[in-house]
Amino acid sequence: MRIKNELALEELFELCDKRLKNVFANYLLDIPSIELRDAMEYTLSNGGKHLRPMLIYATGHIFGATWDDLDIPASSVELIHTYSLIHDDLPAMDDADLRRGKPSCHKVYGEGMAILTGDALHTLAMQIIAAHPASLPAAKRIQMLGVLSQACGPYGMAAGQALDIAIMHEDTVSIPLLNDIYRLKTGRLFSACIELGRLASTDDDEFNQEALAVFSDRIGLAFQIQDDILDIETNTELLGKQQGTDLKNNKITYPKLAGLGEAKAKVNSLYEEAFAAIHHFGNKALLLRELAESMLKRRK
Ligand code: IPE
Ligand code: IPE
Ligand code: MG
Ligand code: MG
Ligand code: MG
Repeated sequence: MRIKNELALEELFELCDKRLKNVFANYLLDIPSIELRDAMEYTLSNGGKHLRPMLIYATGHIFGATWDDLDIPASSVELIHTYSLIHDDLPAMDDADLRRGKPSCHKVYGEGMAILTGDALHTLAMQIIAAHPASLPAAKRIQMLGVLSQACGPYGMAAGQALDIAIMHEDTVSIPLLNDIYRLKTGRLFSACIELGRLASTDDDEFNQEALAVFSDRIGLAFQIQDDILDIETNTELLGKQQGTDLKNNKITYPKLAGLGEAKAKVNSLYEEAFAAIHHFGNKALLLRELAESMLKRRK
């Protein structure tokens, strides 16, 4: 049963989209390079499902964090995620021309400007955590910087992406190794979202933290396996990126190693574990569960 005043999932998306736009608009006003500003604006206004910030708002909501405080991690993570996509699409990485249904950043602004746009979004994420106005105490901001930089730097996404380009074409890659790489390149940022949402509140219950860590680990790994499945099954128009990019790039993927059926079964079992981990939150986690259910069913 829905708690009184509980948000519906569509309302969460609308709220998230509006709040992110507001935050970003402020920081896009005074950028001294018009080209850089345009490229940042282009990629940030390019749609995107906003799943990571929605996870942050939904998690913070469980523990009574304020929307204003949650804006800080939500906008920072969306900036990091968007930067990672710009760099991921570059010719030196996945060489992908289409992103969110539009030409990738480097196709519009050139490779040099796309690299710098990624750099700028990455750094702006840190600036927002350090200095964006909200009541969030300084100690929490420092904790957040730690969580986010661990998740996206050389102990997280950057290492995962490095392993992706270095070895994800080799026949020797096993499923356990692939799982490790997926957790690094994609999963860690999802785990950070859940942790950051909780950190924006006053909750300090270790049991909650551990339960949410299991939940986020499972949905994070599942997310990348699903992304591989969608690269095979969803057409370019719906996907908003070129179908078959992994095949074109000779990537080792979960479906390639285990088969499509096994990949889908793995996603389902990871979600079962994820839902079991947060069962005890009951109705308080309704929105978070609905969001995760929508991720499980996603077609793009
Ligand atoms: C794509 O993420 C990159 C991966 C980690 C697989 P999303 O599918 O969340 O991308 P957007 O933000 O909705 O475009
Ligand atoms: C990207 O994985 C993971 C990132 C950290 C950006 P993919 O290369 O599979 O993502 P898509 O399919 O291009 O969105
Ligand atoms: Mg990639
Ligand atoms: Mg890619
Ligand atoms: Mg992919």
